[in-house]
Amino acid sequence: MHDPGNLLPAESQPVIRILPMPHDTNAAGDIFGGWLMSQVDIAGSITASRRAQGRTVTVAVNEFVFIKPIFVGDLVSLYTEVVHIGNTSIQIEVIAFVERGCVHGACERVAQAKLTYVAIDQDRKPRPIAG
Ligand SMILES: CC(C)(COP(=O)(O)OP(=O)(O)OC[C@H]1O[C@@H](n2cnc3c(N)ncnc32)[C@H](O)[C@@H]1OP(=O)(O)O)[C@@H](O)C(=O)NCCC(=O)NCCS
Repeated sequence: MHDPGNLLPAESQPVIRILPMPHDTNAAGDIFGGWLMSQVDIAGSITASRRAQGRTVTVAVNEFVFIKPIFVGDLVSLYTEVVHIGNTSIQIEVIAFVERGCVHGACERVAQAKLTYVAIDQDRKPRPIAG
């Protein structure tokens, strides 16, 4: 991932852009961390399955850091990058940014994560990822 801070990666497109709704909040009124974890897993799996040319499953969340809160009305963008490709596994970094109050360009990094996916065949057994 090229961006070290709060600037959106200008050269890449997010895998997912989504606007969280009031029903995605926790008891304190902020966006629920589990909601973001779900979106991050989806974004990572899209990139993993594209690279693996087929179905993948999540085998591990290696790292997940919540940096800043997300609020209703924030536009959440998820960027991904392939970190490592093994024999049957692939590790993806996912970085979440928000644009608050629909102010384009005013971005804040709110979370970052690394997840590992395994390519599987029709019998749900690991299959090699083509080089
Ligand atoms: C993923 C799964 C198919 C792996 O099966 P397995 O028989 O344990 O596979 P292996 O031990 O041969 O490991 C396969 C790969 O996963 C990697 N792996 C296994 N456990 C891991 C872990 N905890 N963290 C990181 N990588 C792991 C191995 O290093 C290996 O990578 P490589 O082939 O690139 O060297 C199986 O564990 C599974 O079905 N898990 C449930 C997946 C799931 O339901 N996810 C949630 C919904 S998507």
